[in-house]
Amino acid sequence: AAPVDYQSESATIGQGVVESNHAGYTGSGFVNFDNVTGSYVEYSVNAAQAGSYKLTFRYANGTTVDRPLAVTVDGGNAGTVSFPGTGAWTTWVTKDLTVSLTAGVNKIRTTATTANGGPNADKISL
Ligand code: GCU
Ligand code: CA
Ligand code: CA
Repeated sequence: AAPVDYQSESATIGQGVVESNHAGYTGSGFVNFDNVTGSYVEYSVNAAQAGSYKLTFRYANGTTVDRPLAVTVDGGNAGTVSFPGTGAWTTWVTKDLTVSLTAGVNKIRTTATTANGGPNADKISL
């Protein structure tokens, strides 16, 4: 099936703000994580059936420092994804992570692991 988009600006945000001042995002904006460890964006996604899914994160990082996010699914560790610099806050690229989902709604939380916070987060797709 075609990937479904879950916009960050529609997700649950813990320490961050929705902004739209850097062009190139999709939907109506992106989340600017507060630059602290522990800031997060949590997406409620629906899986038609239990199994392995490729998650795609679309982001920008206008710095030269990686901003890794820890990923959990319904509270369980699903790995850490590296979000290296993209060259500009208006340059948006994708990173993938394969995760195990249960049938129905799954809460995918992405949490900043460093004091720099996360990258600017446009959306996830799966
Ligand atoms: C700048 C940029 C923000 C970004 C922030 C950061 O302020 O405009 O979009 O989130 O840097 O370093 O996290
Ligand atoms: Ca930020
Ligand atoms: Ca968006």
